[in-house]
Amino acid sequence: TPIAAPDNISDCVTASSNLQNSKDAVRGLACCPPVLSTDKPKDYVLPTNPVIRVRPAAQRATEEYVAKYKAAIQAMKDLPDEHPHSWKQQAKIHCAYCNGGYSQEQSGYPDIQLQIHNTWLFFPFHRWYLYFYERILGKLINDPTFALPYWNWDNPTGMVLPAMFEQDGKKNPIFDPYRDATHLPPAIFDVGYNGSDSGASCLDQIGSNLSLMYRQMLTNAPDTTTFFGGEFVAGNDPLKKEFNLAGSIEAGVHTAAHRWVGNPRMANNEDMGNFYSAGYDPLFYVHHANVDRMWKIWKDLGIQGHNEPTSPDWLDASYVFYDENEQLVRVYNRDSVNVQAMGYDYERSEIPWLHSRP
Ligand code: C2O
Repeated sequence: TPIAAPDNISDCVTASSNLQNSKDAVRGLACCPPVLSTDKPKDYVLPTNPVIRVRPAAQRATEEYVAKYKAAIQAMKDLPDEHPHSWKQQAKIHCAYCNGGYSQEQSGYPDIQLQIHNTWLFFPFHRWYLYFYERILGKLINDPTFALPYWNWDNPTGMVLPAMFEQDGKKNPIFDPYRDATHLPPAIFDVGYNGSDSGASCLDQIGSNLSLMYRQMLTNAPDTTTFFGGEFVAGNDPLKKEFNLAGSIEAGVHTAAHRWVGNPRMANNEDMGNFYSAGYDPLFYVHHANVDRMWKIWKDLGIQGHNEPTSPDWLDASYVFYDENEQLVRVYNRDSVNVQAMGYDYERSEIPWLHSRP
């Protein structure tokens, strides 16, 4: 049976999992979504002939674009906290799905937590999460073509924290005080970061990043399981080790960036360094846009073995979100495999790691 988020979002409970120090969880562990009605979520239907939103590489975004993006985040932050589109509620989605807010009651296992990390649900869940986040931002600024930027950390021109996220004297809505201050530009991101700085020179770091990208996208990800992660179906307990098998990108550059950005002086490495708090940093969604782009690139390479899972347990797995019209909707993995059909795409950027076989 596929994993399904509950129809009854009101059964959501306070987060308890994956925290180093829950007493000092500054963002709070009450992660449950607001309940606006008792209606069951409706199955979501993708819009037909959508305008394609083109996600730009953050390091190349125009001033005009950055102003628009910041205005959208500011509008989100200006909403009342209880509004399902508010900055806090959007952040809490990650906490609810990743720190034990939901159980598998919908599929008959009310005593087992629902978790989308370290499993084959990782890519599709985050794709849907960004999908609605982007549409909500677009709606807040009345721009149906609005697209999130992506943090192009796989290209040398994008291997620092994108400049737009820095504190700039003015009140910057996409600045987050809970970041590692030693990793602001010009510090180069380390694709293999595991908690300590490599000390490599700029050129060496870039070279090592490119070969690690090659490894995570090609050498170590030749097939569905190695790229997407392990099967995870109803009844599997995420608190057991055998059900935690992350794909190469999730375990690799994805987690490295979370750790590299989060503040190690905070009790739970807030914000980016913990599931419960990551969504509070606007950079989270921009990081995940590039993670999502890796899925598309991996697939588009057209190499034999580069396929999405075909099991109904994957295709029919589903999550529940508030869409941009505040409707509670249920979305399925099966509808997440084609970004064009979902109405977005990525601005082209060179992929130098393709030629960086270690
Ligand atoms: Cu849901 Cu980057 O983690």
